[in-house]
Amino acid sequence: MNDEVEMSALLGVHPAQFLAVVDIPEFTWDAECVVLYADVRSLWLGNSSASEESFAKYVSLLPAYEQLALKKYHFRSDAVQHLVSLLLQHAVISQLQGIAWKDSRITRSTSGRPSYQSARFDYNVSHHGGLVAIGVRTVNSKRIGVDIVDIDEATKNWRSGWENDFHDVFTENEYKTILSERDSYKIKRRLFTFWALKEAYTKAIGVGLLSDLKSVEFTNVGDIDVSGLDHYSKTLCKVNGEPIDWRFELFALEKTVIMAVATSNDDLLENKTSVKLINLQDIIKAVHSVT
Ligand SMILES: CC(C)(COP(=O)(O)OP(=O)(O)OC[C@H]1O[C@@H](n2cnc3c(N)ncnc32)[C@H](O)[C@@H]1OP(=O)(O)O)[C@@H](O)C(=O)NCCC(=O)NCCS
Repeated sequence: MNDEVEMSALLGVHPAQFLAVVDIPEFTWDAECVVLYADVRSLWLGNSSASEESFAKYVSLLPAYEQLALKKYHFRSDAVQHLVSLLLQHAVISQLQGIAWKDSRITRSTSGRPSYQSARFDYNVSHHGGLVAIGVRTVNSKRIGVDIVDIDEATKNWRSGWENDFHDVFTENEYKTILSERDSYKIKRRLFTFWALKEAYTKAIGVGLLSDLKSVEFTNVGDIDVSGLDHYSKTLCKVNGEPIDWRFELFALEKTVIMAVATSNDDLLENKTSVKLINLQDIIKAVHSVT
């Protein structure tokens, strides 16, 4: 046990509260469920020396084996999203576990789900269209899953007839609800709302898209939109026909970007996930706060 953990145990507070980083408000863990998300598009363009320099600076914060793994990405955009995903994971692990940055280790399950071994918290990452989000269940290790979708990015190569491509993913009832909308863009938005909910749940339990997605059925799915209903939490879910006691939240983050957060209702006291947009610079501060 390190000093911070030992001291927090004596004081009866969570190590993260003891470690709270006063000058980075976004990195205080004052809610049961927190999503931090960053816009990484400024690091996408590899042709300016400023963006090359910051890319290299962020890469240097990772352990050598993770730096090496970044090289496998063909597209700079994918490498950047994975890079920031790893930085956010290390920031969460070091702060919530109360350990030094260099001691943070990410382990992966056989299906690829990352976690920190024997952590008292749980987290899950999603990245798409230049946004990277980490959802954290901060005070116990009950599962959380997150999925972020940029509808324009996801549908940019779609051809006519796409409405018939999802019979392996959605149940008859879900399909009916999705296609009951008339406007083609709204149909796509609704389709990806159902999609994000399925991914968030299957990522929470760790199976990802390997599972039978039609065994998970959603009802009461809200049409979220930044200019209207930007948060919705009344969605219900059945797995193999049985209702499950989970909370499903939908957030509209940008005009074309939606996010689903799934977590078990077990031991949950608060009714809303706290969502914070963070700067890439804040990640650097978070690193230095625990080094
Ligand atoms: C998990 C999965 C749904 C991610 O889909 P996606 O649309 O590409 O990506 P997202 O941006 O939403 O999520 C990516 C993140 O999910 C996390 N992840 C990976 N596998 C996961 C799993 N089985 N369960 C939960 N989360 C997982 C990782 O943190 C990953 O980001 P990172 O690589 O930067 O750490 C998809 O990869 C999947 O179905 N995997 C499961 C099984 C599989 O194919 N495994 C291959 C290795 S055996």
